[in-house]
Amino acid sequence: MKKLWLVAFAVGAAFTAAWGAAPSLELGRQLFASPELGSVGKSCATCHPGGKGLEEIAAYSDGELREMINFCIRDAMKGPMLDLKAPELESIFLYLRSLSRP
Ligand code: HEC
Repeated sequence: MKKLWLVAFAVGAAFTAAWGAAPSLELGRQLFASPELGSVGKSCATCHPGGKGLEEIAAYSDGELREMINFCIRDAMKGPMLDLKAPELESIFLYLRSLSRP
């Protein structure tokens, strides 16, 4: 019986982890408005309200755009750069791409 509980717990934990880590446009929207990414109380939306200053990003490759996001986190927000494969970065990326859709 004890073993069964352990298995149920492991499956549940795996699910929670996968769910929490899934990149999504909605998460990107939230992160864009969140000062938590940096250490100076600013969010992306503080400097790019409504996508201001991001009108040209359609010209960037996926890799370049991910780097730009990280540069702003490091330089403008004084935060730790995100892993290029982090779901947070992927979510912001998805959100920015949704902004620049014609
Ligand atoms: C303190 C202000 C500030 C904050 C906060 C900030 N940025 Fe920026 N960002 C800038 C400035 C300044 C530039 C460079 C000038 C420009 O192109 O508008 C820039 C450029 C960019 C670019 C490249 C745009 C281009 O056309 O070259 C992207 C993409 C970008 N920021 C995304 C973000 C994201 C995503 C966040 C939040 C994680 C963020 N920025 C937070 C000020 C800021």
